[in-house]
Amino acid sequence: MDLVQVFGMTGKVAVVTGAGSGIGRAVAEVLGAAGARVVVADLDGEGAEATVAGVEKDGGQAVARQVDVADPAAVEALVDGTVSGLGRLDVLVNNAGIMIRRPLAEVSPDEFDRVLSVNLKSILYGCQAAARVMRPGSSIVNTLSTIIDFATPGTGSYAATKKGGEALTRTFAVELGPRGIRVNGVAPGWTDTGITRQRHVDAAGGFQQSGFDELAGRMATAAPLGRIAEPVDSAHAVLYLASEAGRCVTGHVIRVNGGASMA
Ligand SMILES: NC(=O)c1ccc[n+]([C@@H]2O[C@H](COP(=O)([O-])OP(=O)(O)OC[C@H]3O[C@@H](n4cnc5c(N)ncnc54)[C@H](O)[C@@H]3O)[C@@H](O)[C@H]2O)c1
Repeated sequence: MDLVQVFGMTGKVAVVTGAGSGIGRAVAEVLGAAGARVVVADLDGEGAEATVAGVEKDGGQAVARQVDVADPAAVEALVDGTVSGLGRLDVLVNNAGIMIRRPLAEVSPDEFDRVLSVNLKSILYGCQAAARVMRPGSSIVNTLSTIIDFATPGTGSYAATKKGGEALTRTFAVELGPRGIRVNGVAPGWTDTGITRQRHVDAAGGFQQSGFDELAGRMATAAPLGRIAEPVDSAHAVLYLASEAGRCVTGHVIRVNGGASMA
C-alpha cells in the first residue's frame, strides 16, 4: 500500500480562502507540502503573500490572490481564474471567517449581514462556483466550528453562520455526490489564531497575554484530551478529506477539538 499516494496531492490544484493567516495558512502549507499547487486567497494581500513564501520554503507551489469572499463575483472570478491559469480545480477550502462578539439582542443589522456574508454566503458562492468546474473526484471542505455544538453568550451571530454552513455542507454533499464531488466540514475547537487573539487586544492596541493564556488554559481543561487545537491539526483533517484517503466520506463534519464536543 502506498500511503504517500493515498494522502498525496501531486497534480492537484487547491484553492484555500482565508489562507493569509491562522488555520487557512496551515491548510495551504499542508496541501502544498502534500504536492498540490495552492491558490492562497485572502482579503489581506500581504498575509496571502507571506503564506505563499511559507509554502515555497517547504518546496511547494502557491500563488496569492486578494479576494473578498463576501463578493459573489469575486469568488466566481477566483474559481474561474484558477481553472484558466492552472488548468483545473480539485479542492476548494472555504475557510475565510470573521467573529462578531456581541449579545444577540444588541447585534446591528449591518454586523449581522457582514458576518453572514463572510462566513456563510461565501460557502454558498464558493460551492456554486466550484460545482460548475469541478470534475469527479474533487473535494470541497468548509471550515465550520465547534460552536455548532454549543450556545454561549455573545457568539450567536457567529454560531448561526457556522450552523448554517453545516446545513450547506450536508445539502451540497447530497446534491453533488452523484457527480463524484464530495463536500465535508472541519469544525476546529478553540485555536490560537488571529480570531482568538483579536479578543485580547485592548483599546490601545496592546495584546493582553495573561488573559489570552488564561482562556487558552480553560479551553484546554474543558476538552477530554486536555489540550487546545493547533492550526495544523485542522489542516491534517482537511488533507484527509481532500485526498483520496477520504474518497468514501461526504456530508461529514470532523471535529478537531480534543473531544470538547462529540456528534
Ligand atoms: N481560531 C479558532 O478558535 C477557530 C475555531 C473554530 C473555527 N474557526 C474558523 O477558522 C476559520 C479561519 O479562522 P482563523 O481562526 O484562522 O482566524 P484568522 O483571523 O487567523 O484567519 C482568518 C483569515 O480570513 C481572512 N478573511 C477575513 N474576511 C475575509 C474576506 N471577506 N475575504 C477573504 N478573506 C477574509 C482574514 O484576512 C484572515 O487571514 C474561520 O472560518 C473561523 O471561523 C476558528
